[in-house]
Amino acid sequence: MGAHDGELVCDPIIEHAVRAMGSGALTEAGLVEHVHPLFSRVLARNVSADEIYLANHSLGRPLDCVRDEVVASLDSWYEDLDGAWGLWMAQRERYRAELARLLGVDRADSVVPKTSAAQGLRSVIHALPKDRPVVVATRAEFDSIEFVLKAMAHKGRIEVRWVDADEDGLIEEGAVARAIGPDVDLVVCSVVCFAMGQMLTKVGDVIDAAHANGAKVLLDAYHAAGVIELGDAHRHADFMIGGNYKYTRGGPGACWLWVNARHLRDAPGVPERDSVFTTETGWFAKAEPFAYARSDAPEFAKGGDGWLEATEPVLTYAQALPGLVLTNAIGVGRLRAYSLEQMGVLGDLLSAKGVSLATPESHGAYVLVRVEDSKGAIGALKAHGVNADARPSPSGHGAFVRLCPDLLNTRTELEDASERIAQALV
Ligand SMILES: Cc1ncc(COP(=O)(O)O)c(C=O)c1O
Repeated sequence: MGAHDGELVCDPIIEHAVRAMGSGALTEAGLVEHVHPLFSRVLARNVSADEIYLANHSLGRPLDCVRDEVVASLDSWYEDLDGAWGLWMAQRERYRAELARLLGVDRADSVVPKTSAAQGLRSVIHALPKDRPVVVATRAEFDSIEFVLKAMAHKGRIEVRWVDADEDGLIEEGAVARAIGPDVDLVVCSVVCFAMGQMLTKVGDVIDAAHANGAKVLLDAYHAAGVIELGDAHRHADFMIGGNYKYTRGGPGACWLWVNARHLRDAPGVPERDSVFTTETGWFAKAEPFAYARSDAPEFAKGGDGWLEATEPVLTYAQALPGLVLTNAIGVGRLRAYSLEQMGVLGDLLSAKGVSLATPESHGAYVLVRVEDSKGAIGALKAHGVNADARPSPSGHGAFVRLCPDLLNTRTELEDASERIAQALV
């Protein structure tokens, strides 16, 4: 690859490490020998801080080379001045292509960079044709999503119908489907709910119910992308939002909106006036931004570029790409299998020490421990050298500590962690 095609300094390093592990199931020995050396900085912190990091579902740990990529991107600004846009835009396209691969979709342009998941949601709401659209959302949506919906409802811009969680804090897909009537415009629903880690297994039923009523579906895949292999049911949704802050180790600000290609302006059989476009926009979404031409009606770029906005942050691409490239190179299927194995090990170790688990049967990448006092529990864990977090149940009853091992946590570390967690919580 040449200088301006999105090539990373770390491409050969990641490729070599992943190839050296072989193509079979991930093993701790293979990871420790080939992948852990790519994370020497964060792994050194385990020792210096005497801390076991199990908050991988919150802030993912970065590869060493994230720094090198960001510095290289900055260097181009010093050295090439406006010529740096060539590199920055090439990295944006690589970012979209890596995310398209992660989501299992063909078109890289159907992935639109956003600085937050909330920004993706706002773009979609501002694309709905009705003046005061009706939105169905679950009570298990993340705070950012819930807050946007509440703020817009408060201002009278939308009407929201909330679907409650059950007593255990879980969402029943049938309840979501039943809340969708013919006046509903948009359904907002997580693939993996952030507080309980519940993975919805019947997303397809929700999407079918929405489409039968003429509504669109936005899936929040923040706790799913990079954790589980997204399937055709998910890709049947109209929109997905997510970000790289957690499982793909890309840091804050590197988020995305996926728009199903059937809604893009060049979708076959869709008259241009019927295509979906958003008013959350800017000059990067114009058909020819650098022509500086003005017409009475807005002329959007074809395809997913019509969903871009204004002059954008550019360093986030360099920041997020190494983790995305590593995730795709290993493959989400192998990562999921390894994560299930680790959660099984940690769960068994904790149960044997009297810590009772509350992980839902179908779940994402972390195990749950119910606690009465979440602040106290997190403080006690911190004091015992375990970094984790806790969230209140969407049912309003109780809170749950979230413990997420990842490919940097060894079996010895999980044994040590289970000891510390039992001391802190039992
Ligand atoms: C399910 C889910 N959605 C979205 C977000 C982040 O939202 P935003 O990017 O708007 O801050 C999180 C963060 O924890 C999350 O868990």
